[in-house]
Formats: sequence, structure tokens, C-alpha cells
Amino acid sequence: MNTLAFKNGDQMPALGLGTWKSEPGKVKMAVYEAIKAGYRHIDCAPIYGNEPEVGEGIKQAIEEGIISRKELWITSKLWNDSHKQEDVIPSLKKSLLDLQLTYLDLYLIHWPVVLKKGTKYPSSADDFLSTNSVPLTETWQGMEKAQREGLANHIGVSNFNIDKIKNIINDCKINPELNQVEMHPFLPQQELCDYCMTHRINVTAYSPLGSGDRPDKMKQDNEPILMDNEVINSIAANHKHTPAQILIAWALHRGTAVIPKSTNKERIRQNYEASFIKLTQADMNEIDQLDYEYRFVTGEAWEMEGNSYVAKKFWD
Ligand code: A2P
Repeated sequence: MNTLAFKNGDQMPALGLGTWKSEPGKVKMAVYEAIKAGYRHIDCAPIYGNEPEVGEGIKQAIEEGIISRKELWITSKLWNDSHKQEDVIPSLKKSLLDLQLTYLDLYLIHWPVVLKKGTKYPSSADDFLSTNSVPLTETWQGMEKAQREGLANHIGVSNFNIDKIKNIINDCKINPELNQVEMHPFLPQQELCDYCMTHRINVTAYSPLGSGDRPDKMKQDNEPILMDNEVINSIAANHKHTPAQILIAWALHRGTAVIPKSTNKERIRQNYEASFIKLTQADMNEIDQLDYEYRFVTGEAWEMEGNSYVAKKFWD
């Protein structure tokens, strides 16, 4: 199993199970089956609305002796309504309670977006706090404190562009150790990857399969279907694997972690098997041609009349 190294020598399993959009009633089984199949990394967040059930799946696997806690890598994330320094540790502790854990391996700031306490998704500009009143550097101090207190072994960010990472690095004691962003052949984000790797920031690719199960309101008109792409399908046919497996293998070959979501036992296993696929340089070069900076997750959810978020500039 590929791993990504952290500065203190810890190794994060590069393939993880994504749990965004994993339906209640299915995600416990998904987590349990994933661990049984060999996954050692589960990616979670309280906003996914399923951490208690994810925790049940982890607990069952540990109780049955399939795995011990220390063999697992569990990531969770700080929601946007808890960016004030004093809210970070209570939010982390709520995730620990829900997941039935005593520490996280990795805790991430979920978005560089600040919402008022209690807001899950904003419906108007009134639901936001200004980024001046709660700068990301303040939130980061809360993250550092959480790490110092042993609640999270590593801390990082998600959905951050280079400028926002620099903003933290210029001010912090502990650099972010990982950035989790949307990443797949239509959006390889090579510049961001290069910046992160130069600064010893690991990268996790989310929506690696194109997130076809996002709620309809998040979908763009005529959205492309990544798994239907001809190049991906022809490489899949050559290797006698599925398009999903080629997408996962591509992410692993780039040196990133990758967190495909599935709540289907067969597909969970199939995705795990992708860790063992060897793509050729020619395959990689061909897939690299597919980049057209297409985002499935645009950031438009944060753009509202009267606030300062502009989706198009969000990622610059
Ligand atoms: P399911 O959970 O029913 O398996 P992403 O990780 O990019 O968000 O994509 C998740 C979507 O991809 C879900 O709809 C998931 O469905 C589907 N999916 C996951 N693994 C596979 C696979 N091996 N083949 C086809 N679809 C898959």
C-alpha cells in the first residue's frame, strides 16, 4: 500500500475511503467493509452528517480484531461556522465523540470560508462573518493548539489555493502539512501540487471519480462525466480494469492521496485493488492531456449578494 510521509515520519495510507455523500444507513457497512478489504484511511467531516455512523463502522472493525486504532488513519475537518480560535477544539472534540475516538490523525480547516456559528450551509450574506473579523491565521492558531494538546497528530487545510496557504505559512508556528482539494484528470492542479510538494505539504485528491452523486443543485448544466471519458476508458480496456480504477491509479501515480467515495461493497473492493495497478508513462502522458481546469465543486455555494466571496477568484 502506498503511503505519504509526514515530517515526523508518520505515514498516511495514500488510498482512503471518502465519506462525503455516503448515505446514512449505508456508511457504517461501507467503513467496515473498506477496513476488511484493506483500507487503512477514512476521510470524514462533521458536515457530511454521518460521523456517528462512520464511528460505528470503525468500532466494529476494531472490536472484531480486524484492525487496531493505531493502524488506522482518520481525518476530519473543521466546519466553516467554527473558525473562531476558541471554537476549534470544541468542534474537534465533537468529531472525536461522534467517531468514538480519542485522537485524529489529521484535522483540516474544511474551507477558507467563515460562517456564523450554527450555520451549516448559508442561505444569504447574513450567514457569513467577515474574513477580517476571523482571519484564517486566527483559525490556524486554534488548529496548532489542538495539535499541541494531542487531539490531532497532524493539521492541514482543504480547498486552499497557493495564496491562502502562503498567508498561513507567513504567520504560523506549524506549517500546514496537507491540503485536500478537488483533483482529477480534468483538474490536475499541477501548479498547486508543485507548490505543496516543494513546501512538504501533502496533497489529497477529492472527487477523484467526478462526484456524480452530488446533489442536483450542485451540478452544472451539461456536466462532463469523468468515468465516461474516452481516453480513460481506452486505458481501462488496455489494462483490463475499470475507468474508476484508472482514475484512482492516476492519482496515486502522481504522489497524492486519493479518497474515492463508495457505499457499494463491490466497488469499495474494486477501488482498493486500484492501488496495485501500474500505469505506464505513456498512460500518464495521455491522461495529462485531459486537463481543462474543469471543477465539479465550484465554490459557488459561497458566492452571495452582499458578501465578498467570488467563486471565479476563489481558486486563483
Ligand atoms: P457508489 O457509492 O454507489 O459506489 P467521488 O469519489 O468522485 O465523489 O465519486 C463518488 C461516486 O462514484 C459515487 O456515485 C459512487 O457510487 C461512484 N463510484 C465509486 N466507485 C466506483 C466504481 N468503482 N465504479 C463506478 N462508480 C463508482
